[in-house]
Amino acid sequence: MTKISDTIQYIGTDDLDIDLFESQYDVPEGMSYNSYVIIDDKIAVMDTVDNRKAEEWKRNLAARLNGRTPDYLVVHHMEPDHASLIAETVKTYESLTVVTSAAAAKMLGNFFEGVDFSSRIHIVKEGDTLELGHHTLHFIAAPMVHWPEVIMSYEAQEKVLFAADAFGKFGALCNETDDWACEARRYYFNICGKYGTQVQAVLKKAAALDIHTICPLHGPVLTGDLTPYLSLYDTWSRYEPETDGILVAYASIHGGTAAAAIRLAEMLREKGAAKVVVSDLSRSDMAEVIEDAFRYPKVVVAAASYDGGVFPVMHDFLYHLQIKNYQNRTFGIVENGSWAPSAARVMREMIEKMKNVTIVEPVVTICSRMKASDVPALEALADALV
Ligand code: FEO
Repeated sequence: MTKISDTIQYIGTDDLDIDLFESQYDVPEGMSYNSYVIIDDKIAVMDTVDNRKAEEWKRNLAARLNGRTPDYLVVHHMEPDHASLIAETVKTYESLTVVTSAAAAKMLGNFFEGVDFSSRIHIVKEGDTLELGHHTLHFIAAPMVHWPEVIMSYEAQEKVLFAADAFGKFGALCNETDDWACEARRYYFNICGKYGTQVQAVLKKAAALDIHTICPLHGPVLTGDLTPYLSLYDTWSRYEPETDGILVAYASIHGGTAAAAIRLAEMLREKGAAKVVVSDLSRSDMAEVIEDAFRYPKVVVAAASYDGGVFPVMHDFLYHLQIKNYQNRTFGIVENGSWAPSAARVMREMIEKMKNVTIVEPVVTICSRMKASDVPALEALADALV
């Protein structure tokens, strides 16, 4: 089991059976729901877990309590993957006080109908502290990272930041590899991507703290040199590209648009693009393509026309980028249409709603199949992108 220290202990759970996290994200390596307990004169439980793992979590907690009763349940985030067991825990430990933000307190009644928390709750705000004995928790407001009620806490004795969803990743701890960034990046952009401004605000607060360990609500506990993690979070939350390269994302019905997209990718490579990633939107994990769109500075969208608009998977892709506050990037557009091409118009309209984006010319139109006569326009687009 993950070890933080003799007095701060991991009581979370792995979930290897979940098909889709939040009913939308593929998690082939499972998911962890992290929870911790601080053993001191007073005992603080740091969040619960998803109801799917209730029994295992209760066993983990009981084993760490060693017969004692917890004094506090600190609730950093009310999303059910962490907060499902609040009411049950309050009922089990009758002297326990829930410590959370005012916004979270308002949410309790929505999730736990008929449970009266009024005499069992201690509201904290930015700057408040909670003394446990040798350990002291300092609370940090972290609204919209990833819900409005989120708080983090910093334990001053052992210099541990309990970071809520921040610095989390997809994947169960039992499947953990050394490559934190891969699934942390997919997690960040799909779950927190919209809230870069709020993440920046929290990073500024974190910079004023001496942090030795980050305990997130998903993924591994982070220790040692924390600079790479903090640096990536800074890049990601500024909406800056992380790696030079071009994503070519295509939406093809019968293969014509795919052939044009793949040919364009070859041209980009021949012309010296640092890296070219090609994704078939009909068959790729959408969350992975969203991640790549944020990772690279340039994106080519190539799509078939469909019912007077654009093939739906491309619409879905661009809609995802819009709602994740996608910005500061360069786009190339390729459309296909057998009688009345309409894809480019719709893609342009969707892209132009994003902040600080550039669409390079030419926008290329293919009629049914890429032909020799289309090559100059594709070459010109490749030249404009590289
Ligand atoms: Fe892991 Fe926003 O919940």
